[in-house]
Amino acid sequence: MDFDTLVRTRRSVRGYKNDPVPRALIEEILDIAKGAPSSMNTQPWHVHVLAGEALEDVRRRNTEVMLAGAKANRDIATHGEYEGLHRQRQVAIAIELFKVMGIDRYDKAMRQDWVMRGFRQFDAPVSIVLTYDRELDPGAVVHFDLGALSYGICLAAWARGLGTVINGQGIMRSEIVREVANIPDNEVIMTCIAMGWPNDEFPANGVKAEREPVDRFARFVGFTD
Ligand SMILES: Cc1cc2nc3c(=O)[nH]c(=O)nc-3n(C[C@H](O)[C@H](O)[C@H](O)COP(=O)(O)O)c2cc1C
Repeated sequence: MDFDTLVRTRRSVRGYKNDPVPRALIEEILDIAKGAPSSMNTQPWHVHVLAGEALEDVRRRNTEVMLAGAKANRDIATHGEYEGLHRQRQVAIAIELFKVMGIDRYDKAMRQDWVMRGFRQFDAPVSIVLTYDRELDPGAVVHFDLGALSYGICLAAWARGLGTVINGQGIMRSEIVREVANIPDNEVIMTCIAMGWPNDEFPANGVKAEREPVDRFARFVGFTD
């Protein structure tokens, strides 16, 4: 797949086959993704790859605490609710996903079920947890670095037929992931990426999220053409 096709066809995958992903393939993907740029070549990331019993344990405990009404407990500072244009785009993709999944927006139980799937990391066979050294907080620059690594992982996976979704929900209760994966206290848990072989029958996997045209977000200064 050439680069443009790779980027244009990739989309988030939220339904997976049960088939395991070979460890060597994940190592290959990380070996490609590590080519991401980072501030001063600090390469400040740590990657914890979870599967099997460990991942099941995270899923089970995440589900328990979220169903019990616990609030999110993330390591990184997050903004509040999206507003304005950001909110409109958030709603637009949710409407699209709910439509293909047959989820009525007033059906609280089905909506809750969808949210819980997110907390279970969409039942993917692999979860890639990204962390960085706490001494790099406050994290704007290191967050940028890990963002670059994340996209590399998603693209390298897609090029090999694997699906991913960067999944903030999966580490909403960071303390659970930390305990199960034995992540040291001096690392900040930034996000996780669910990964596995896409289930092509799963309707949400067919959704292609819209993007704004370039002239809506870019302007050119000093050009003559
Ligand atoms: C930082 C970040 C966090 C995300 N968290 C979630 C999440 O918790 N649940 C989810 O379903 N998708 C999550 N996504 C995926 C986005 O919803 C998705 O990338 C966006 O809608 C664009 O769709 P596409 O990836 O299919 O192009 C996240 C993406 C990013 C970059």
